[in-house]
Amino acid sequence: MADLVQIEAEPATARAVLERVPLWFHTFSLNRSSELYTPGVARDHRYRIPALPEDFGGMSVLDIGAFDGFYAFLAESRGADRVVAVDNEQYREWVSSRWGVELEGGEGFAAIRELLDSDVDYRRLDAFDLDELDETFDLVLCFGILHRVENPLGLLKVLRRRLAAGGRVLVETHGPADPALDASAAVHIPEAGEVYARDDFVYWGFTPAGLDAMARHAGFEGFGLLDAPMIDGHRRVIGELHTRPLD
Ligand SMILES: C[S@@+](CC[C@H](N)C(=O)[O-])C[C@H]1O[C@@H](n2cnc3c(N)ncnc32)[C@H](O)[C@@H]1O
Repeated sequence: MADLVQIEAEPATARAVLERVPLWFHTFSLNRSSELYTPGVARDHRYRIPALPEDFGGMSVLDIGAFDGFYAFLAESRGADRVVAVDNEQYREWVSSRWGVELEGGEGFAAIRELLDSDVDYRRLDAFDLDELDETFDLVLCFGILHRVENPLGLLKVLRRRLAAGGRVLVETHGPADPALDASAAVHIPEAGEVYARDDFVYWGFTPAGLDAMARHAGFEGFGLLDAPMIDGHRRVIGELHTRPLD
């Protein structure tokens, strides 16, 4: 999966980057032949790849909660016209408590952006302030963040306002720990630290039916489930919020 974004930096440059950035969330292949990879802590994200367009040609894309920006850089490398990545860098808090590493914020993203000579536009911005962007997007990537915000319905409303006509949002989030809830519109509210030890920012697990109900409240046509795999012992849910009926 790391090889989907082709970097091929000089080995010395790649090693300097690995030394400079103290923790990576995403795994990037910096130089394949020298087997230089960023040691990303995110586990097994391969199930997300089939949900992404093979060709982003002509699209404007917004990646919210981008962290090191793997999906933003992938969208650019697959032909997106414009890519904006935002993150409020809240991860500094749970990276510090989970791994005891102090990040400044944005250092992994900046390093990859430089290696790729990328035009992805990075903003340190809270997703609830996205109206400040004053532009709309064909595709919004909302991966790994909906369960981390206190007001998920409010976030979906904000995202709806950022969509261009006919646009869509790809959502990836935590499902309920209890599969018996799957058919209901319930949300699972984990105890602090229940999902990841020493990470108190995972507030919700959503069923597909719950996401569908919330999407309709937020002004979408609904939620189309793409997959709901178990990843590292956790149920994940991935699908699409669309603004018109699916074919
Ligand atoms: C688990 S990481 C997911 C990173 C990436 N999207 C992925 O799925 O691989 C969640 C990210 O969302 C960011 N985040 C959390 N709440 C946010 C908010 N209100 N506004 C912007 N970013 C936020 C965190 O700082 C972190 O980078």
